[in-house]
Amino acid sequence: MSTLTRSKRMTVPQLVAMKGQEKIVSLTAYTSSIARLIDPIVDFILVGDSTAMVAYGRTSTLSMQLEETIAHTRAVVDCTKLACVIADMPFGSYQESSEQAFRNCAQVLSRTGCDAVKLEANKALAGTIEFLVQRGIPVMAHVGLMPQFVNTMGGFKAQGMTPEAAAIIAEDARANVEAGAFSLLLEGVAEGIARQITLDSKVPTIGIGASPACDGQVLVTEDLLGLSADPVPRFVKRYADVGAIIRDACNQYAEEVRDSRFPEIRHCYGV
Ligand code: KIV
Repeated sequence: MSTLTRSKRMTVPQLVAMKGQEKIVSLTAYTSSIARLIDPIVDFILVGDSTAMVAYGRTSTLSMQLEETIAHTRAVVDCTKLACVIADMPFGSYQESSEQAFRNCAQVLSRTGCDAVKLEANKALAGTIEFLVQRGIPVMAHVGLMPQFVNTMGGFKAQGMTPEAAAIIAEDARANVEAGAFSLLLEGVAEGIARQITLDSKVPTIGIGASPACDGQVLVTEDLLGLSADPVPRFVKRYADVGAIIRDACNQYAEEVRDSRFPEIRHCYGV
């Protein structure tokens, strides 16, 4: 049983202090039903822009809108009280300028009550991260496989597979930490570079398809529950087949309705 005994919501400084002490556990949530279940289990909940693909069935994360991020993050914050909540800033909401990023991140924080934001950030975004952090916005920097770069990458591919490519990711990570990012999310990168970045940086690294050496791990909850459309990436471990449980229960309900076995008199009022 992996439920925590925390009585208050985890803060960003508490997450940072976990580096080198204990592993950080994170999962995604987009809705109150999943968020409520994972709140006592994880250290932080990521309201990922994977919402676009997992919850809305779209082909990439690029179509995620700021209003959708705000609505889903608000739902997650409102029904949780223990996990730190981090909102993933959608494509186009922070890349134009530091001022645009501040305006949109401030809206997300003030309208949802979340604790921090995550930005997909190569070193070109380090100036924006510095601008945000200096103005009170905690930033997790996502490097390596950045799904918002799907068109420039030509698909979702593991990154840092050559020494030159690995050096670029290490440079992105270093620039973002120097700019004030409180954590690095390393997605889909060669194991060795994830391990090296974890050793080199003073802030916690959170891996997804990265390395067991990372300071913490995150997965998309639907992936580990067996609720995502196939194929799932190699880095996913499926811990349950909740899809099969849902199918069985719904089939049983459908049969009972068709056979007039549901509802029974005990499910009716005024009898
Ligand atoms: O959007 C998301 O869910 C993410 C995770 C895959 C890390 O960024």
